[in-house]
Amino acid sequence: MQRETWSSGAGFVLAAVGSAVGLGNMWRFSATAASTGGAGFVAVYVFMVLLIGLPLLLGELILGRRFQSSPVAALTRAVGRPGAALGWFFVLTAFVILAFYSVIAGWTFRYGLESIAGGWEGDLTEHFLAIATGPAAVLYHLLFMALTMMVVLWGIKGGIEKFASLATPVLFLILVGLGIWAAFLRGASEGYAFYLAPDLSVLADPAVWGAAAGQTYFSMSIGMGALLTYASYLRSSDKLATEAAVISVSDFAVAFMAGLVIFPIVFSLGMGDTIAAFGADEAEGVLFIALPAAFEQLGGTGYFVGVVFFLALILAALTSTISLMEVIVSTLIDSLSVSRRRATIGVGVCAGLIGVLPGMSLPALSMMNRFAGEFFLGFGAFAITLLVGWFMDDPRRELRAALGDRALMVNGWYFVMRWIAPLITGFVVVNMLQQYFAG
Ligand code: PHE
Repeated sequence: MQRETWSSGAGFVLAAVGSAVGLGNMWRFSATAASTGGAGFVAVYVFMVLLIGLPLLLGELILGRRFQSSPVAALTRAVGRPGAALGWFFVLTAFVILAFYSVIAGWTFRYGLESIAGGWEGDLTEHFLAIATGPAAVLYHLLFMALTMMVVLWGIKGGIEKFASLATPVLFLILVGLGIWAAFLRGASEGYAFYLAPDLSVLADPAVWGAAAGQTYFSMSIGMGALLTYASYLRSSDKLATEAAVISVSDFAVAFMAGLVIFPIVFSLGMGDTIAAFGADEAEGVLFIALPAAFEQLGGTGYFVGVVFFLALILAALTSTISLMEVIVSTLIDSLSVSRRRATIGVGVCAGLIGVLPGMSLPALSMMNRFAGEFFLGFGAFAITLLVGWFMDDPRRELRAALGDRALMVNGWYFVMRWIAPLITGFVVVNMLQQYFAG
């Protein structure tokens, strides 16, 4: 059977941006910035994106487009058996992330429906704790998984590309609109100050660099073959370098903008204390407690803003879960010759079942996040740099075709993949291990 393709390069970029832009952008980035160095963290993060995020992303795109197949088959063709092992490791990572991510996405789905139904009353902390775990949380997780399956079932052109072509631009517009609106709120500047107050001492803290690297992988969907898989549906005449740059910049822009929306709203309504009490890096506190409380206080405007904000969250999460599911589905199609229909149903049911665990227990959820969302991705990123930089045959070929005679860029990228990225990603892995063993 002829392999599916995107109908256009733009369709691919929108789907890839959709994968990258997710809950990681909408809460993890701004919350981490607010609690670790503000603009200092943003600077470290941008540096990491340019130094390792963008080059690794290009590496994944090259692998996918050259071998025109999902991770297991592509990596096998690139380097043989060890490649196959790495490919299956990506599938495992995708399963675990999909399972817990869908639980969080289920919360946003529930909040979206609640916001439409008229909002919230009473103590929002209690409300959040009540809905975050238990049978209802599992139910919403399963609903979200079903939504994801519906899109993946329709395939690349008819499902993923169509949906992302709508969802990604809508999400962008919503954020820009909300960002402009929020800038005029009284007290907005206090929000900005909380988010971005520069603490440059973080530049000297290795732990902050490690955290920025982890955020880079997660936010850009790097280290488990999601973008490799999407690039495998490109035609071999499509270019890669510009696309990689557009994806990286868009991902950062959305993360940065989300903070410009969230903190002015929260601070203009005097909810700063709620965040402080929770610890800014506890995302739930900001997204599911302080923000809804603020929407409540804003009356009619708050109703509208709440509905639109949660819609943006849902769209962001959905285009990400779709890409996670597609990694596994396309592997089953390519490596085990299963039909898309069967593969999608099987993966959805399995991931749905695995998600019961994080749906019933917050500690399980955060453990899965630490393992798969941080450590597996970190290890995957390291493995990709080695594979592309050292073991793959002529990795520069696609880039030469894309960049022509701009040899400096081509060789600069190759140098980073061979030397700098393995050092940094390797250091991050070792650092994570040390932290786990230190408790
Ligand atoms: N990039 C997504 C986010 O920021 C999460 C994700 C990670 C999606 C890995 C796919 C693969 O939320």
